[in-house]
Amino acid sequence: MSTPQSLLIRHAEIILPNNESMIGDVLIEGRHITQIGQEITNATPSREIDAQGLTLLPGVIDPQVHFREPGLEYKEDLFTASCACAKGGVTSFLEMPNTRPLTINQSALDDKLQRAAQKCLVNYGFFIGATADNLPDLLSAQPTPGIKIFMGSMHGDLLVSQEETLEAIFAQGSRLIAVHAEDQARIKQRKQEFAGITDMAVHSQIQDNLAALLATQLALKLSKKYQRRLHILHMSTAEEAELLREDKPSWVTAEVTPQHLLLNTSAYATIGSLAQMNPPLRSAYDNEVLWQALRDGIIDFIATDHAPHTLEEKAQTYPNTPSGMPGVETSLPLMLTAAMDGKCTVAQVVQWMSKAVAVAYGIANKGEITPGYDADLVLVDLKNYREVKREEVVSKCGWNSFEGWNLTGWPVTTIVGGEIVYDHGQLNTQVRGQALTFS
Ligand code: DOR
Repeated sequence: MSTPQSLLIRHAEIILPNNESMIGDVLIEGRHITQIGQEITNATPSREIDAQGLTLLPGVIDPQVHFREPGLEYKEDLFTASCACAKGGVTSFLEMPNTRPLTINQSALDDKLQRAAQKCLVNYGFFIGATADNLPDLLSAQPTPGIKIFMGSMHGDLLVSQEETLEAIFAQGSRLIAVHAEDQARIKQRKQEFAGITDMAVHSQIQDNLAALLATQLALKLSKKYQRRLHILHMSTAEEAELLREDKPSWVTAEVTPQHLLLNTSAYATIGSLAQMNPPLRSAYDNEVLWQALRDGIIDFIATDHAPHTLEEKAQTYPNTPSGMPGVETSLPLMLTAAMDGKCTVAQVVQWMSKAVAVAYGIANKGEITPGYDADLVLVDLKNYREVKREEVVSKCGWNSFEGWNLTGWPVTTIVGGEIVYDHGQLNTQVRGQALTFS
């Protein structure tokens, strides 16, 4: 019998599941972590990495991305997006259903899974999207992390804004419902009020804090009525955070994006439409309340909402500019830089970007550096700072909203299922991830 491929990482600062760290070695055999110790001497690995001075974290699980394939590959595709993931230390992702065709039935889900098996350098899972009339598909589709509902900010079949239709979805089945919570009626009314204004700062006024709060209140109400597992995607306002602080049922989780923590409406003046996303950027006050809610466990984890558009599309005049920004290449350095700035600890970043996501979505054996767990890992450099540069962007869109930011914690080596997929700037495009399963 041939021995499985093995990899020994030596002298790393290892962030352990108990939030403590140790300098030591990690042995990987085949796809799994098999040993952790101060000095592993009983192994004859096929490869060794000297990680002196580097920090070893579980790979990031990004639970909200838009990777555009099939149908919108001119913006991004599963290969380019997964290369960007590998560079950013993201070893697993959960992708959203607003592709073309929409991911609203088993055959569209199967198609994405097949494409991903051929193209993705990291592990993958795909949400099933709710429409007004696909309840049987929502109940039966497999494997999926859950049902995605756009309560607002969406056109066409994926918009589910009527309370009766939403209630029918909450009332049946038990799988997780993830909501994009913005109130479509309020957005529609405010679009009319602000019609003709081309200054894109108005975007945050049209899709304002109240639009987000109203939808989150409705989702919470329905979730409580049916005790239905609810996840609030990219929560963006102080008001929603305070609402959850007052009353957060045990079956409800929430996420926040790095951009809603680190950018605010002042960014329109500096980066224009590259700051436009849904839900929109808010005030500096919202940034601080969201940070506090994250530190207090009111918000459970981080997602990027990676949503690339081309620079040509972004160069149009508001409101024709599309909403969304890429995220997977910079989310980990952004959060680790915040940790170095004293906003949180490195162990909290690991909790929010790996462990808590695995727990919330029932992804077994990921999100921790523990023997027996999958060897999805990232070695980061917390000692050096480097700027975000447009020419280094791997995502097909070719830009990043944080260009010019000086960040630390950049991935040096990313490992997926025991294989090195990114190392010192080089991608190994031969590596393939696996389909995630959810319990
Ligand atoms: O800004 C956004 N863009 N928010 C979303 O929820 C969707 C995304 C997209 O797909 O472009």
